[in-house]
Amino acid sequence: MLTIEQNELLTRIGRGTPMGGLIRRYWIPALFADQLPGPDCDPVRVKLMGESLIAFRDTLGRIGLLQELCPHRTASLFFGRNEECGIRCIYHGWKFDVEGNCVDLPTEPPTSTIKERVKARAYPCIERGGLIWTYMGPAEHRPEFPAIEWTELPASHRRISRRLQECNWLQALEGGFDSTHLSFLHKGDLSFSHPLPSDFEFKVTDSGFICGYGREIDGRMMWSSDTLLMPFHKLIGTELPGAHTWVPVDDETTLLYSVDYNPEQPLSEAQHAAYASGDRMHAVNEAGSDRMAQNRDNDYRIDRTHQRSGKSFSGIRGIGVQDTAIQESMGLIADRSQENLGVGDLGIVQLRRYLLRAVEDYQAGRDIPAQEPKSYRMRPLCSYTPKGPTMTEIMDTHLKAMTALAMRA
Ligand code: FES
Ligand SMILES: [Fe+2]
Repeated sequence: MLTIEQNELLTRIGRGTPMGGLIRRYWIPALFADQLPGPDCDPVRVKLMGESLIAFRDTLGRIGLLQELCPHRTASLFFGRNEECGIRCIYHGWKFDVEGNCVDLPTEPPTSTIKERVKARAYPCIERGGLIWTYMGPAEHRPEFPAIEWTELPASHRRISRRLQECNWLQALEGGFDSTHLSFLHKGDLSFSHPLPSDFEFKVTDSGFICGYGREIDGRMMWSSDTLLMPFHKLIGTELPGAHTWVPVDDETTLLYSVDYNPEQPLSEAQHAAYASGDRMHAVNEAGSDRMAQNRDNDYRIDRTHQRSGKSFSGIRGIGVQDTAIQESMGLIADRSQENLGVGDLGIVQLRRYLLRAVEDYQAGRDIPAQEPKSYRMRPLCSYTPKGPTMTEIMDTHLKAMTALAMRA
């Protein structure tokens, strides 16, 4: 459990909050690249880290991400005209470029100096892995873009979907580091049944940490990991790697990007079909929306007969929907002072300790973790061995392989 103060410290991400400041020191996914399909396309509203923003692609193809409200009299730039290398507010015609500079101010005389003084808050953007990412922290701390493997692959090698989670980012992230739920929530829906882990090891890395798990399955050992890449990325320890990225929209809403990828070759038609079914980690959304079709308003279409049948432990269709449903059920911001944790929650405990330490370092002005971009080039652990090796040996071998992967040109 956490104190109420610690809970507030870890969950609040608005401007000026400690965790909000820490997360703003990393590159953050803002939207899909194809939401801005070409020069001078329609602007898009983006809510990110509690801030209302407008994304647009200018005449030269450059991406702008500006405060939504016009610095003149706070009309929404969403309705603006995206023309000739800038977005022009339709209220009085003030115009801003991708850097937020006021480049035209038709209501003022040519001698006016307001133009030099007025600036829209603007965040730098970069396109990687099918997404547009932004950096919202102080310019002097801007890191290089992290070498997250799925962002470096051709588009054919990955599938990305996203869905809203109507809860705080941390409880969604914690769901990704809750290994014991595999034996319950998803029972009947995973490709094989997961016994509770018999081995656990936590190791800090240069880009975050790894929780390693050993499970005995049919007389053999299955070794897997939940890997955190700061500040909110997870690599999923399955045979073909997967990843989640939980992006805070505001304190009570999260946009989860989920990725299936093959580092070596394009995904097959059959894989795409399986991912599109909604049965696995990608959910099916309402048309034209990031909201799941199975959502809190329809109780995620829980089927009590299916639940009773024993074929599905949850009675909710889709592994991803099950996760979101149960994470949302904890409330908009889970009250961790009310919990009772046990040994099955070691991953969660380590995650919180790690984040508390990181936010303390941030507040104290010390170095924050995971500033070496190459250290992000990792893969999840997923292997099988006869009984014998220890979790420590397996983790050491894995981490050596990851160091070699990180060094790859
Ligand atoms: S409010 Fe935008 S130009 Fe006046
Ligand atoms: Fe899950």
